[in-house]
Amino acid sequence: MTTKTQVAIDGPASAGKSTIAKIIAAQMGYIYVDTGAMYRAITLAAMQANLIQVGQTAVDETSISNLLANVQISFAPSEQGQLVFLNQVDVTEDIRQANVNSLVSVIAAIPAVRTELVERQRQLAATSSVIMDGRDIGTTVLPNAQVKIFLVASVAERGQRRFAENQAKGIDTDLTLDEIKESIARRDYLDSRREVSPLKQADDAVLVDTTGLSIDQVVAKITDLIKQKIG
Ligand code: DC
Repeated sequence: MTTKTQVAIDGPASAGKSTIAKIIAAQMGYIYVDTGAMYRAITLAAMQANLIQVGQTAVDETSISNLLANVQISFAPSEQGQLVFLNQVDVTEDIRQANVNSLVSVIAAIPAVRTELVERQRQLAATSSVIMDGRDIGTTVLPNAQVKIFLVASVAERGQRRFAENQAKGIDTDLTLDEIKESIARRDYLDSRREVSPLKQADDAVLVDTTGLSIDQVVAKITDLIKQKIG
């Protein structure tokens, strides 16, 4: 029997987790699971059902829980990268907009949402070797992952990266660098202080600070760590 490899990459918003994870997944032949996209898709579904709107900091958790059974989330590869579908509709771009950014931490703090998504994430990991990124992968979703990375970078650098990415992709181009930095710092705060599965480095995770490093340098560092751990 071949053992399935599990690589967990956790860290704060815009630390480069998904960029790095996608490259490593392609190189190693693992599936890539973007768990943030799953929380974003549920947030979008809740917005579409008028259960939450921009500015709200609390929601009716029962209605959100009831919604979960009707929220199907799937991923598909494409030439433009991985696509995200909500009930078969392509929401890849919609889930990256500022309105979802501002509400996703509220939805991600609901215990029923986390229980459901953790279960779906474990099912995805059961099918194949996987590299999964998020906030609680090493601590909660895949506590036995062979490789755990905690990826960080300064707020200033993460803001710069997100600003450049938005401009390049034409997403939320009216947001200033300062507004983006504020939004990142706010999500760091909410994600690390929520009661259920807060953003936290697992005891056995390796800390990788990507401030000042190129994508290639980070990929090389993490690939080395994977090879050291799994041979
Ligand atoms: O990685 P991201 O920025 O796309 O994640 C969006 C939000 O989802 C983030 O603010 C926190 C939440 N999240 C989470 O709570 N647990 C995860 N495993 C992944 C994301």
